[in-house]
Amino acid sequence: MTVSLGGLRIVVSAGPTFEDIDPVRFIGNRSSGKMGFAIAAAAARRGADVLLVAGPVALPTPGGVQRVDVRSAAQMREAVLAALPADVYIGAAAVADFTPRFPATHKLKKSAGGDAMLLDLVRTPDILAQVATQARRPRLVVGFAAETQDLARSARGKLHDKRVDMIVANQVGVAGSGFEADDNALTVFDADGSHALGAGPKTQLAERLLDLVHARLQRAGAAPAPNPTIPGPTQA
Ligand code: C5P
Repeated sequence: MTVSLGGLRIVVSAGPTFEDIDPVRFIGNRSSGKMGFAIAAAAARRGADVLLVAGPVALPTPGGVQRVDVRSAAQMREAVLAALPADVYIGAAAVADFTPRFPATHKLKKSAGGDAMLLDLVRTPDILAQVATQARRPRLVVGFAAETQDLARSARGKLHDKRVDMIVANQVGVAGSGFEADDNALTVFDADGSHALGAGPKTQLAERLLDLVHARLQRAGAAPAPNPTIPGPTQA
């Protein structure tokens, strides 16, 4: 049975951010956006009002989802904060941690600095932490953690440091799973401990994550009652 999320407003961020160095070069990462898009699609199928803030990705907009395209972390922050208030925020985007302090307005010449080049970088705003600590805080704030080592410890650290309700952790660097892949293996960390969502297609893991989101909201008295009339997801 698929539980309904009708009546809930859910904001999802997905994909990478690109931080411009000059008009032709940028700092990016390997996020495909597939996990966040799968979550947005599944939430819309369950009747939620979904706003998807998407970094630069090559994915079609899921049915019933409202989409805002952004490029940089600063733009993503602006779009996410403008989308509030919401009942749930799911930060699935791989936001760049650093951005060039002074992006060049003209293409940088490789001859200008000799054999080496130093980039002056500054931290980007932590969108997830800002959403979780502001006055219009969604009832449920969910973050992601992609790690190559010490998964549980890092996830618990982020849960605490960013003041979020759930951290969805995945091990990256595993062949066929994580960044760019269609499959993933996820564990959710929250105040109660950890819940393994298992491994499988991102479309299926998105459904399991939304079941947890629904259960958590219901416990807090904020979720619609289960609605057995919603058809199950079509498998990708
Ligand atoms: O600290 P780290 O980047 O590993 O945390 C990952 C989580 O924080 C993800 O949910 C990501 O969307 C969010 N994040 C953010 N803004 C940043 C960095 C990360 O919202 N500048």
